[in-house]
Amino acid sequence: MTATESIDFLQAPAELDQQLDDLILPEWWDGTPAIPTDRYEVDAGGQADLDPAGDLAAEMQRVYDEVGLVHVRNTGLTELADMRTLAQHCLPGEMKYEGGSNPRGALEANVFEVGAPLTAHLHYHHEMAYVSKSTRALAFLCKKSLPDRGATYFSDGLASTEYMLSTELGQKLKELGVCYHRNLTDREAFKDKLEVGVYNHWQLSMDTDDSTEAEAYARERGLFTEWGPDRLLKTRYYCEAFEYDPVTDRNLFYCSIADHGMWFDGWPLVMHLPHNDRPLHMTFGDDSEFSRDELQQMVSQYDRFGIKVDWRVGEIAVFDNFRFAHGRPGIELTDGEERQLGVILGPKYDRVGTYRDKW
Ligand SMILES: [Fe+2]
Repeated sequence: MTATESIDFLQAPAELDQQLDDLILPEWWDGTPAIPTDRYEVDAGGQADLDPAGDLAAEMQRVYDEVGLVHVRNTGLTELADMRTLAQHCLPGEMKYEGGSNPRGALEANVFEVGAPLTAHLHYHHEMAYVSKSTRALAFLCKKSLPDRGATYFSDGLASTEYMLSTELGQKLKELGVCYHRNLTDREAFKDKLEVGVYNHWQLSMDTDDSTEAEAYARERGLFTEWGPDRLLKTRYYCEAFEYDPVTDRNLFYCSIADHGMWFDGWPLVMHLPHNDRPLHMTFGDDSEFSRDELQQMVSQYDRFGIKVDWRVGEIAVFDNFRFAHGRPGIELTDGEERQLGVILGPKYDRVGTYRDKW
C-alpha cells in the first residue's frame, strides 16, 4: 500500500472505553535491574572531562557500544550546554526535532523539553516509532532533580524482543504489524481556547503554517492523511512492529502502547475523553483492535526487563533507541520543587522494517 491510496480513517470503537475503564498501569520493573548497574553506569569523578579525546569519552563510548545505555554520574555539571557536550562523547549525532507528536520547547540549542505533562505517567516507548523517519539514539540531561522521585526507567530491548517472539501476541504482531493513528489539531482553531484534547498542532509537528506543505511533509514520512473538521489533520502510518537494527544485526521489537489512546490515561485535558476523541489510536496492521489482554501484555512485557535510573543534577544518560525503550511514572511536585530533564534526539534514520533472515 502506498501513501496515495485511499484508506478508511478508523475511529476507536466505543466498547474500548468499557474495556479500559480499569486503567492498565505500568509497573516499570521487578525491583532488580534487568542489566547489572555496573555495566551501564560511569562515574565522572566529580568533574566530568568534556574533552572528546579524553578517557571519560573513551569509557562512555565503550559502554555505549557494549550495552546501548550509559548513565554518567557525579559529573559536577550544572549547565545543559555542558551536559550536551558530555552526551556528545557517545551520542552518534543529533537531529532537529520535526514530525513528532508532541510539542517540545527548546531549553538550549538543540536541547528540548520532554514535551509531556509531568503528572502523566509515560508508558515505555521507543521514540518516534510512529513515523518512517525515526531516531537512532537519545540523550537525557538532568537540570533539576528531586531527592526521592522522578526516576526514568529503561527496558532492555534485546530481552523484550526475545520474549515477545516466544508469545502468541509477538507472533501476531510479527505477521500483521501495526497502524498508528494520529489526530493533529489546528493551532488556529484553538486560539484563545483551552487546549482540550490537544496533543500537538500540525503547525508545530510539521513546522509549517501551510496546510498543503504539512500534508506533503506527512506523506513524505509514509503517512496517509485526511483532513477532518476544524482542519484536524488525521494521519495513519502502517508499519512493522519490529525493526531491523544494524548494530545488533537483528530485528528488534519496536512498538509499544505509547502510541495508543492509553498514552493519555494520566494527561490533564485529555484523560477524561473517550478513546474516540483522543489524539492517538493504535490497531494491528489489518485495522483490527487490540484486546484488553493484548494491551496488558504489551505493557507487562516491558516491565519484565526494566532498569531504574534515579537522577541527580548534572547526570546524563545516552541510550540506543532500538536496544532500549524508556518511560517514567507521573511526578507530583509540591511547593518549590522542580524536576527537569533536557532531551537531545540522536541521528535520524529511515525505517526499513525487518529482514527475513534476521530473526
Ligand atoms: Fe520519549
